[in-house]
Amino acid sequence: MPVPVASAITAGEARPTERPRVLSGVQPTGALHLGNWLGAIRNWVALQSDHDTFFCVVDLHAITVPHEPARLAEDTLSTAALYLACGIDPQQSTIFIQSQVSAHAELCWLLNCVTPLNWLERMIQFKEKALKQGADVSAGLLDYPVLMAADILLYDADRVPVGEDQKQHLELARDIAQQRINARFGTRGSDGELIPILKVPQPLILTEGARVMSLTDGRSKMSKSDPNEGSRLNLLDSAELITRKIKRAKTDPQMGLEFGNPERPEADNLLGLYALLAGRSRAAAASECGSMGWGSFKPLLAEAAVAALTPLQERYRELRDDPRYLGEVLAQGRQRASAVAAATLNRVRQALGFLAST
Ligand code: TYM
Repeated sequence: MPVPVASAITAGEARPTERPRVLSGVQPTGALHLGNWLGAIRNWVALQSDHDTFFCVVDLHAITVPHEPARLAEDTLSTAALYLACGIDPQQSTIFIQSQVSAHAELCWLLNCVTPLNWLERMIQFKEKALKQGADVSAGLLDYPVLMAADILLYDADRVPVGEDQKQHLELARDIAQQRINARFGTRGSDGELIPILKVPQPLILTEGARVMSLTDGRSKMSKSDPNEGSRLNLLDSAELITRKIKRAKTDPQMGLEFGNPERPEADNLLGLYALLAGRSRAAAASECGSMGWGSFKPLLAEAAVAALTPLQERYRELRDDPRYLGEVLAQGRQRASAVAAATLNRVRQALGFLAST
């Protein structure tokens, strides 16, 4: 395959003002699932044509909980290949590996030193994950949202497309930029206006798919860390496994699928998945399945999931069969991301008063 070229930008060069900047990422921890796709990556694909898009595989985040070194590199490559298989186009987007751009770790340190500890202790995901880890919670897990803020702020991102669960982390990134960097270290222009150092990003959360729920419990989020494999549909699951997981998905005793009944979270979730996977509006899905029993609905949902995932899986296999191509895409992404990130890091270093490096 020919190597695609995203338009090059070098450090210090003005960025195209007409296209807002976007940054997002997924952790390479285990297999990506339907929540990652429908809640985040699907949205990234749609943004590529009219935004300047940066997508990274956030491997530094993946080691904030105990991890297997023997799997990290493979999971990182597999996640990058899945970005491409889902439709992220290297000619339009910059795709890179977080740990290969050292500015992420450096800016994280600078931001650490101005972020109040109690802001981090308030983070819901930290509290939930820390509870699971018991006594073995790492300082990295607490610091995770500051690294995420560094990821975003380094690229002067205007918008950050994520699922609902990342909203609090996005608010933290905004507060760090606004209150702890711009307000404290920004300078004033001749008109008294604050000249910001960092761009304050906006979250971009879709209304549909922003919170895909578990197949085995409609009240909890579909998650990579759920020990029950049957709770999620992974993007690389075989047709047979998808069908089996859907067959075993939790139901309720009522006939007819419907949205919005608080007593029926499983019906709401699975009908929502059907609408998204089959490309139907919610109204059309609700009227098609409104009087259907679970026994007829589940095969329909399984068929829609297999049909949606098969082309993605075929593309994924092609990409994994051509490691040189993926390597070249990531090398180019790294180069472009490094240039943009270095310029921002320099700005922050200067504002904080560091001796200029020669
Ligand atoms: P991660 O790896 O847990 O998830 C990646 C993306 O998938 C979304 N997501 C979901 N959306 C809907 N329903 C679900 N059940 C579901 N599960 C996950 C997440 O909201 C996310 O958008 N901290 C981030 C990774 C990160 C990041 C960043 C994101 C690091 N740096 C900078 C944006 C910008 C995380 O752990 O996502």
